[in-house]
Amino acid sequence: MKVLVATGSKYGATREVGEAVAAVLNEAGFEVDCAPAHEVTGIHYYDAFVIGSAVYGGLWRRDASALVREHSEELKNRDVWLFSVGMATVTTPNQEFEEAKELTALINAREHQRFDGALDYEKLNMGEKAIIRALNPPKGDFRDFAAIRDWASQVVTELRAVAAL
Ligand SMILES: Cc1cc2nc3c(=O)[nH]c(=O)nc-3n(C[C@H](O)[C@H](O)[C@H](O)COP(=O)(O)O)c2cc1C
Repeated sequence: MKVLVATGSKYGATREVGEAVAAVLNEAGFEVDCAPAHEVTGIHYYDAFVIGSAVYGGLWRRDASALVREHSEELKNRDVWLFSVGMATVTTPNQEFEEAKELTALINAREHQRFDGALDYEKLNMGEKAIIRALNPPKGDFRDFAAIRDWASQVVTELRAVAAL
């Protein structure tokens, strides 16, 4: 079974989450490609997908969002897991990741999972720094790789069930 893990990431935190998911799938014996969403040229080769994105201003990165939207008809008929990486402290209270929920419904994805991300103030551009200065959230790396690997293991269990059908 061939699986594509694709991510939309600006500063690399989400890309590394995708790589961790891909490593778990790979160890479980699946044939896995892991790529930035903007480098994905076609999806026909793959049986299943894990597509994730960093969240900025409540929205997915454009490349990851476009990957889902442009291939929504094909993805509706495949097994797809989505994940979002964000910082609860940067979002407006109770922000519900509206776009991620919309994309989940659009392709009837199996699940949408949310993970805490990382914020390296020094890497940000001037506009981003201004936003972060105003919101003053905790800075640092809040990714929980044990939780990420646990989730990937659940995906493995479900993929094995699909492969056995
Ligand atoms: C300007 C800015 C806006 C952000 N907006 C949100 C947001 O709306 N919701 C959220 O959960 N996280 C938000 N974040 C946090 C990022 O999603 C988080 O830092 C993420 O790990 C970045 O991933 P990346 O390194 O893959 O780009 C924001 C961060 C910045 C710098």
